[in-house]
Amino acid sequence: MLTIGIASGDAASSAQIVAALEQTGVVKSIKEWAIPGARIPDTADALPDVVLLDLGRDAESFFAFGAQVRRIRPATRLIAVSAVSPPTHQLLLEAMRGGVQDFLPKPIGMTVLREMLSRLTEESGAEGRTSLDKLIVVMGSKGGVGATTVAVNLGVQLSVFARKRAVLLDFARPLGNVHLLLDLRPQFGVRDAVDNLERLDGHFFAGLLTPHTTKLQVLAGATQPEEWQTIAVPPLERVVNVAQNSFDTVLLDMGAQFGTDWASILKTARMILIVAEANVPSLWTLQRRLVALTGLGVEPERVRIVLNRWHKGEEDVLKGIQKDINRPVFACIPNDFRKASASTNLGTPLLENAQNNGLSLRYRQIAAQIAGIDPGPAAKKGVLGGLFSFPSKR
Ligand SMILES: Nc1ncnc2c1ncn2[C@@H]1O[C@H](COP(=O)(O)OP(=O)(O)OP(=O)(O)O)[C@@H](O)[C@H]1O
Ligand SMILES: [Mg+2]
Repeated sequence: MLTIGIASGDAASSAQIVAALEQTGVVKSIKEWAIPGARIPDTADALPDVVLLDLGRDAESFFAFGAQVRRIRPATRLIAVSAVSPPTHQLLLEAMRGGVQDFLPKPIGMTVLREMLSRLTEESGAEGRTSLDKLIVVMGSKGGVGATTVAVNLGVQLSVFARKRAVLLDFARPLGNVHLLLDLRPQFGVRDAVDNLERLDGHFFAGLLTPHTTKLQVLAGATQPEEWQTIAVPPLERVVNVAQNSFDTVLLDMGAQFGTDWASILKTARMILIVAEANVPSLWTLQRRLVALTGLGVEPERVRIVLNRWHKGEEDVLKGIQKDINRPVFACIPNDFRKASASTNLGTPLLENAQNNGLSLRYRQIAAQIAGIDPGPAAKKGVLGGLFSFPSKR
């Protein structure tokens, strides 16, 4: 991941570049300098891998700024961002003299920007993406199996128990109902994020979120069924990248939908949790989904199966399922219609008294496993008897 600086004389233009950079998902940090008058740090350590010179009318002062940066940190790459495309002969000459290695035409195209950044990442020897470990996609093997319940309760446990800064993106179709399960009244949602891509940086994104009392943040989903007709997947990937810049964990409820256009998001996810139930229609779709995910290029070890509404004493069924799908089941969540439905209808996540509530405890165990932390004594009790055992009190 690269560190980047932007030298600009125009705050609005600089903000647009920040947004575009954050949406690529390959930038570690961004620093902005206002030209003229910006002070350059005098140690190489404080200077970024790449400096974008957002050329204003007086291009010379930008080249002078760039040259000064390169004197302190010769390894820094200078890129000129220019509305004059292709650059005039005179501009090219001045840029070359100032040590500029490349030109980026304005307005900045995402494909060109991504290509340039991946080339620069390779050249600079910086590590590739590290945001890979932040995105957790939750999908249902089919509709109604509990994907949203899992996403919401995991999000809450990651936030409260694992103390992670967590955000839940509600990308379920046709409607998003995460806010209902958390009793939230969102003002903004996914529609606003994709409609404002040109200024969607971490700051703008934060303004679109609705916080829950547990500190879990929610980007609300679609509230009108026809909204998805005009939302393509590539802009969603940019939203996911911005979210990954600002949070420790990004949960994504994608419902039961599936399509090849989701490949790039799915391939970058640290984990894909497929929620299924132990019945024939759900397992039939699960098997097909697993094959399809592999077909999209998703590494099988990133895919985890969560069996929801599991009944105690069905261990033989579990063994059969694992044999059929030829992989282990990651977690089983007990069937508890009363608690699950009360929680859904009241908009209160399953948080209370984990010791006495098999569902809360299970979600806490999964959150601990995902976060790589100790699940605590009560949760350990359940784990000791095996991943699929149930707490004695329910
Ligand atoms: N462990 C559980 N025990 C009993 N009922 C549950 C459990 N988990 C979820 N449910 C119930 O199952 C129903 C469907 O849950 P949910 O809305 O999360 O499914 P979904 O997969 O997101 O559905 P959709 O495809 O409509 O998005 C809800 O009524 C919920 O309360
Ligand atoms: Mg749902």
